Amino acid sequence: MRSDAWFGADRPWWKRVVAHAVASANRLLHAIPPCRWFYRRQFRRGLVWTRLVVPASASGLDGLRAVFLSDVHVGSYLTAADLQELFDRVDELRPDLILLGGDLVHTRAAELRAWRVLIQERSRPGLRWFAVPGNHERFPGIGLSAFHDALSEAGAEVLVNAGRQIEREGQSVLWLGGIDDLAEGDPRPESAIQGRTDGDPVLVLSHHPDCFDELAALLPEGVLVLSGHTHGGQVAPFGRVLLRHSARGYHRGVHRSGASTLYVGRGVGAAILPLRIGAPPEVVVLDWARGVERVEVRDSAVGLANAGSLSR
Ligand SMILES: [Fe+2]
Repeated sequence: MRSDAWFGADRPWWKRVVAHAVASANRLLHAIPPCRWFYRRQFRRGLVWTRLVVPASASGLDGLRAVFLSDVHVGSYLTAADLQELFDRVDELRPDLILLGGDLVHTRAAELRAWRVLIQERSRPGLRWFAVPGNHERFPGIGLSAFHDALSEAGAEVLVNAGRQIEREGQSVLWLGGIDDLAEGDPRPESAIQGRTDGDPVLVLSHHPDCFDELAALLPEGVLVLSGHTHGGQVAPFGRVLLRHSARGYHRGVHRSGASTLYVGRGVGAAILPLRIGAPPEVVVLDWARGVERVEVRDSAVGLANAGSLSR
């Protein structure tokens, strides 16, 4: 069990009391309209769309586009309406894959409804949705099975220590793995890459960034890992991360190990306080392209209103 685990029944009683007290205070603040207004304002004005250009080793990968987002925390200052507004912009990017990196909801199973409706309404031919759980999906009021059922009934695939082949025009082009959360779950990186076709590049979703080293060691040929969890510190004045949710220093942005790359997104929402300082919310757009040697980060710094201007 990791030291940042809080919710499970096997956790020390005082941790569970603190977790519930913090969640109650968070819900109370969410119920106060000015708090929601205050966070929504930061979200609308400050949202950054970061673009990753990923090497397309196989010709079938060239032009593939994915959108990765995590830590939306619906029910903590953001609502179903905010989620719909965000996806109005995501839809304009016409992604092939939508990758959801956990902490999609905050503390209540009812918050899953926003995602169920969103995925059902926005499904279209050619678009596939994948998700991994975060620590908040294991909050006692939610639970992994409710998360799994809500998303899979809506049409998303929930990857918990499992993977799927991504095909284009009948050809396998990519292995997409997803692992369980490190803080509250049982991550098994080796299970997430089992069954892949030799030679296919591997992309793994892991809510907690601290599984990166194990994945990089398992795949010396290279793996791209997408994580969240840290919120980039959420309150990080002058770029100094005060709340450190990664024991390995993977608080935000790009990290490399050999041929492997980790990108830690700052997430979309906020937990506890409706506040982000020095850590604006972020959505990551991945474009596979030929002629690129390694994963390149291109901070577009495009505001929400201009997201549609990201060109293919
Ligand atoms: Fe989170």
